[in-house]
Amino acid sequence: MSKATTNPMPRLCQLPLLVRWSVAVLTLVLLGGYVVSGIHMAWHYDNRDGVEGLTLDDIRGHYHGVSVPSPLIDALEAGHPEDLPDRERSLLLDWLNDPTNLAMSFDDFDLGDDAPAELIAVNCLSCHARNATGPDAYPQVPLEYFDDIQPLAISREINPTTTDIIAMSQHTHAPVMAVILLVLGLVGVMTRAPKALVGLITLIGAIGLGADMAAWWLARQDDTWVYAIVGGGFAYSAATGLVGLIIVLDCLIPAFGRSSGDES
Ligand code: HEC
Repeated sequence: MSKATTNPMPRLCQLPLLVRWSVAVLTLVLLGGYVVSGIHMAWHYDNRDGVEGLTLDDIRGHYHGVSVPSPLIDALEAGHPEDLPDRERSLLLDWLNDPTNLAMSFDDFDLGDDAPAELIAVNCLSCHARNATGPDAYPQVPLEYFDDIQPLAISREINPTTTDIIAMSQHTHAPVMAVILLVLGLVGVMTRAPKALVGLITLIGAIGLGADMAAWWLARQDDTWVYAIVGGGFAYSAATGLVGLIIVLDCLIPAFGRSSGDES
C-alpha cells in the first residue's frame, strides 16, 4: 500500500464549517486584491505611448522603450493634408527621414521651390500659421519657423525603466506572487477538484510567472519578450483566478452524501 493512502492529504471539505468559510473569504480577498492591482496597472502604464488606454506599446515602453515617430512624418504618411501632391509629399518625407540634414536643407537655396521651407509655406501655412483663420485652420500647431517644425520633425524615444527600478519591483513582486500561487496550489489539491487538473493549472501559472519575470529583463534587449510579459502575466493571473475559484467553490459547497459524518 502506498504512503499516500495511509497518510492521505487533508481535504478542505472535511474542515469545520467556519474554517472553510474563512478560507473562502480570504481567497476572495486575495482575488479582489489582484483585480484592484490589475486596474492600478492599467492606470499606471496607460499613457506611456501617448495613446489612450493600456496598449502593448505602453508595456513595450516600460520594459524595452519605444520610439514615437515624428508627428510630421506620421501626418504626411497618413495622407495629411489630403490635397498635397504626391511629389511634394515624398520630397517632404525624404527630408524628414534624414534627420542629420534637417536644419541644413530646410531652406537650402539650391533646392529652389523644392526646399522644405518653400513646400511648407505653400502647402501648409494656409492652415498652420499663427494667424491662420478659416474652418480648417489649425493655428494651435504652427509651422512657420524652423523652431516650430523641429520638435515635430524628430522622432521621440521613450526610454525603458531603469534596471534599478525593475530590480526593486521584481524583488517585491516575484516572491509574493510565487508564494501566493504556491499556497493556492497546495490548498487547491485539497479540494474535490481532480488533482491532476489543479496541478496542471498551477503548473501553467507557475511557468507563466517565471516567463513573465525573466522577460522583464530579456525585453530590454529584444522586444519580442514583451509578448512573454503579457502572455506569462495572463497565464499567471488566469491560473490564480481559476484555482482561487475552485477553492472558494469547494469551501462553499457542502460535502453531500458523505458517510464519514465529519461534515460540520
Ligand atoms: C486645410 C488646412 C490644413 C492644411 C493645408 C494642412 N493642415 Fe495640418 N492640420 C490641419 C488640422 C485641422 C489639423 C488637426 C486635425 C488633424 O489632425 O487632422 C492638422 C494637424 C496636423 C498635424 C498634427 C499636429 C498634432 O496635433 O500633433 C501635423 C503634424 C500637420 N497637420 C502637418 C501639416 C503639414 C506638414 C502640412 C503641409 C504639408 C499641413 N499640415 C497642411 C489642417 C491643415
